[in-house]
Formats: sequence, structure tokens, C-alpha cells
Amino acid sequence: MNDTTALPLRKKLHTYAPDWLKILATRIDLARIFIAELLLPRKCYVQINPNCVEKLGHFPGLRNEIRSYNYATSIAQKSLAVDANRVILLRTMLRQVARLPAGEYAELGTYRGISARLILRHMKRGAQLHCFDTFEGFDEKDTSAESRTVRNRGIDGAFADTSLQRAEDYILDGEIHNSSLFLHKGYFPETFSGLENHTWRFVHLDPDLYLPMLEGLKRFYPKLVPGGVMLLHDYYSFFDGVRRAADEYFGPLGVVVVPMNDKAGTGVVIKPEQEASRDWRDAFSGLLKDTAA
Ligand SMILES: C[S@@+](CC[C@H](N)C(=O)[O-])C[C@H]1O[C@@H](n2cnc3c(N)ncnc32)[C@H](O)[C@@H]1O
Repeated sequence: MNDTTALPLRKKLHTYAPDWLKILATRIDLARIFIAELLLPRKCYVQINPNCVEKLGHFPGLRNEIRSYNYATSIAQKSLAVDANRVILLRTMLRQVARLPAGEYAELGTYRGISARLILRHMKRGAQLHCFDTFEGFDEKDTSAESRTVRNRGIDGAFADTSLQRAEDYILDGEIHNSSLFLHKGYFPETFSGLENHTWRFVHLDPDLYLPMLEGLKRFYPKLVPGGVMLLHDYYSFFDGVRRAADEYFGPLGVVVVPMNDKAGTGVVIKPEQEASRDWRDAFSGLLKDTAA
């Protein structure tokens, strides 16, 4: 059943059901939550269908996309990786940038192509999607620059169980002509060479680690078009190098990263029409110093 046919029936049931049935349904829901809280580990994050999914009838296929995202990430991570909010965030932001007059799409950190598949399906017709990955997992140069906490989680060799062909097959799924998809295999930022003059309207940074995140910000942000969106996956996750890189890069620019409530606390940055002038930034940082004193 698709979203549009599901809505009226549910609405009808809700309107005509007697009060005792609504109260019973609520009690059953509360009991399910109580049992889930008892059984699931404390740190478990389960985000199946937020209320807005019901309201987003105008997002056809959203439910199916959430289902297939949850299924694919759970298989890849060998865990219960259920995160509807990430799918909604990606789709909402992609919808927003489609209105912009120019700019391509990019993803740093593609792995098996789960998020790239969503981007390709919701991007502006005729635009390009550039995906950067080693397609052989994390590089030792990057993992050795991580904090001890992250290294202790055993990140060496992570995400090696993929290949360029596997990602391409999953992203295209035999449906979409591949002339808009460009996969750049190898170590980033080396694979960025030749793309310095491109402008971007949507950039999804998901390399997990400090060094590639910082290099990604340095290369993509200056060429993000006004109104363009950057998503920093893992901004509020255990990969602490992501926040370190973002705060180090954006702090001096006076750009604020807004954390979202998806599983990995994705950070959102929207490029302003006009960046604050250096005079204004200097005055502002002086003001902050005065306040701190
Ligand atoms: C978390 S996975 C990406 C997941 C993907 N965005 C998704 O949601 O399906 C992180 C990826 O970043 C890639 N990566 C990390 N550092 C990199 C670098 N310096 N150059 C190229 N790829 C890198 C890894 O190979 C890995 O596949």
C-alpha cells in the first residue's frame, strides 16, 4: 500500500473509533514502549516512523524509502540501524536545494551507496552527483590521526567490505541512466583533483574521520553556492574527529553548524547569501572576549 492510500483509512478509523478503543490503543502503545525500553540496550536509538511521516503525504514513496534504508543499513552494519529521521532530513534538504539555480551534488564517504542512492533519486534532473570513496575502507593515514577513544573502537579496516561496482549497482539499481553519476575511487583529497572549479548546491560529508572531514570542508565549502546545503554526518556521534574538524573550520568563519536529531546528530550548514565581512567578524570576536572577561 502506498502513502496516499494509507492515509484516509487511518484517518477514518481515528475519527470514528469509540473513545474506549482509542484509550485501549494508547495503553497498548505505552506497554510496547515500556517493554522495548526494558529489552533494548540503553544506548539504542530507534526511530521508525515519526508523526511527520503521516503528514508528509506529499512525499510519495517516503515510507518505502525509509524501509529500504533501514533494511540496507541494518545489513551493512550488522545491527538494528533504524533511522527514519536521516532519510527525512536528506529528502527535505534535497528538495530545498533543487530550487537553486546552479550547482552539482557531492558525497564524500559512499561505502555501499546507501545514502548516494537517495541523493541520486531526489536531485535536480540534469545535475551531476560526484561520490568520493576509497571503496576499500578507511586509510591508515586517517585512522592514525583519530583520538584514542575512536581508535579503541577498532576502526582499522572498517568499511572495506565494498567495491566501486557494488556501490554503483546499488545506487543505480538498474533504474537510472548513469550519465549523472561519477564515482571517484581513491584517497580523498587526491581524487578531488580536476574538480576545483565546480560549484556545489548539496554536499554530504560522511567520511567519519577528522582528516578527510577537514579536507572535505576546505574543498567544498568555498564553492558551495549561496543557499547551498552541507550535511555533516556524525557531527554528534562517537566519531569525535568530525565535530573537531567542523568547529575548527567553521569557528573562525562565524558559521554555525546546527545539529539534527537523527541517529548520528548530523550537522547542517546553509551557505548565506553574503558572508559576514572580516570587520564584522573581528568586532564580534572582540565582543565575545569582552563578555568572557
Ligand atoms: C560511514 S561510511 C559512508 C556511508 C554512506 N554515506 C552511507 O550512508 O551509506 C564512510 C566511508 O568513508 C570513506 N572514507 C573515509 N575516509 C576517506 C578518504 N580519506 N578518502 C576516501 N574515502 C574515505 C570510507 O572508505 C567509508 O566507505
